[in-house]
Amino acid sequence: MKTFYTTTAIDYTNGKPHIGHAYEKVLADVITRYRKLCGDDAYFLTGVDQHGQKVQQTAEKEDVHPGTYVRKTTKNFTKAWSALELEYDGWAETTDNEHKACVADILQKLYDEGQIYKKQYQGFYSVKQEQFLTDKERGEDGEFGPEWGEVEERDEENYYFKLSEHVAWLRSFVEKSEDFILPAFRKADVLNAIERAEDNDLCISRPKERLRWGIELPFDEDFVTFVWFDALINYISFAGYNKADGSKLPDFDKLWPADLHVIGKDILVPSHSIYWPCMLHAIGFTDEQMPTLLVHGFWNMNSGKISKSEMTAEIAALTDPVSLVERFGADCVRYYLVRDIHTGRDSNFDPERLVMLFNTELANNLGNLCNRGLSMTKRFLNGATAASDYDDDISKELREQAGVTISAYKEAMDRYAVSEALEVVIKYITLCNQYTDKQAPWALAKDETKTAELTTVLGHLTEVVAIVSVLLKPVIPAACERIQNQLKATFLADVNISDLKWGMIPVGQEVAKPKPVFPRISLEDE
Ligand code: MSP
Repeated sequence: MKTFYTTTAIDYTNGKPHIGHAYEKVLADVITRYRKLCGDDAYFLTGVDQHGQKVQQTAEKEDVHPGTYVRKTTKNFTKAWSALELEYDGWAETTDNEHKACVADILQKLYDEGQIYKKQYQGFYSVKQEQFLTDKERGEDGEFGPEWGEVEERDEENYYFKLSEHVAWLRSFVEKSEDFILPAFRKADVLNAIERAEDNDLCISRPKERLRWGIELPFDEDFVTFVWFDALINYISFAGYNKADGSKLPDFDKLWPADLHVIGKDILVPSHSIYWPCMLHAIGFTDEQMPTLLVHGFWNMNSGKISKSEMTAEIAALTDPVSLVERFGADCVRYYLVRDIHTGRDSNFDPERLVMLFNTELANNLGNLCNRGLSMTKRFLNGATAASDYDDDISKELREQAGVTISAYKEAMDRYAVSEALEVVIKYITLCNQYTDKQAPWALAKDETKTAELTTVLGHLTEVVAIVSVLLKPVIPAACERIQNQLKATFLADVNISDLKWGMIPVGQEVAKPKPVFPRISLEDE
């Protein structure tokens, strides 16, 4: 049985990802890499949402076919994800033929079962959100708020999914489930939204005269599928649901249910917590087969919002993941994105904090520990860690705290609280640097009678560097690999977290010539 994580399929409004999108992908990548470190066979699916009115409109403006536009734009996303060193196992593009076939099969099944029907509807439509509005969406002043953008009156025939038939089930499922929505404080928003959804069915089609760029309904060629109905299905279609013989997609039974759909708070309601579970329920999924939604917060900026609707050229330039990686390196950007936000809460994107956190926590604190541990081992012990019978209280404490740190790190990571897990490791690194100051190996090296003390202290330092390099690997994989190479302990790359213990570095192990792992960075252009 694999662990299965997905993130949202990003849409193309601005044609390029920003730091908020990047955060979601890095968070999922860190969680997946952590599970692999725990010995799990984890699978990470991510991708792009390529259909819909906005794509059609942008392609029209650029005077290209929407297919040409999405092919070009998709490259901006894959380029950013590779710069950030994301390791995903599955890539979901919603124009993919297997996905389209899966959506069509599901629509046909629901239509045949009478769960989809046609009706004439006269009412208001939000172009921005690509959905019909009801009186429940009006504000207290009776008007549709700015979140809906331009609102038009429409009178048209469409197909509807009988969402209302699943709402009673959904309410009781959400009420009793302890892990459908994480963090739990978001549950209240969902229960409120369920009240509002009660007697509304979901319009799942768009007439082709208005929108051509979508998946054609299998039972009516004059319509395409509503973009959310199409995009949500990516979570199962790319996991191999109903795949054709000979398909290279994964085995659905091995992946589903998804352990996590990692999503932002803006798309919890209604798409992921109402439409999606009701769609799955209608298709025949049981309560046990529902995914868990890990709902993250937003990166904001003092100078303006990092969001598709309020993106300015200036914010786009400041929050472009590729240029941030080019300037500061992938490890630095990955570290900042999961360090300066608590999973589920919002944070303020601030390049000055990015530089400060990297310099203090990685370049100074960890960099110093690696550099001292390795260079003194090289200099004073001829490049080999050694065994010694000597022991003292602070060495004992350092060893004990290693165990405490590993447990606290695991406890936080198991709750997806990545920043807390990093905090625990950083605290331990600080303790290790204090240990070095107190033991003063540079002074021990000058006293021939203190060789046992010296070998103990340096043996402890190489050991903690090894442990820390394993714990930080999910967040800063490239830097940890460099540390492990300098330790000449490449076996650490395959260490499972449950095997992480004191005494992993073999006695007599040589170390390589140390090189700074984290050169300091600055905001000034060099
Ligand atoms: N296409 C839909 C998702 C379909 S999934 C079946 C979509 N795309 S999006 O591009 O608008 O957003 C993609 C993800 O990025 C969402 O989870 C959204 O919450 C997240 N973020 C968008 N802006 C963000 C920030 N400023 N900060 C953090 N996450 C942000 O919604």
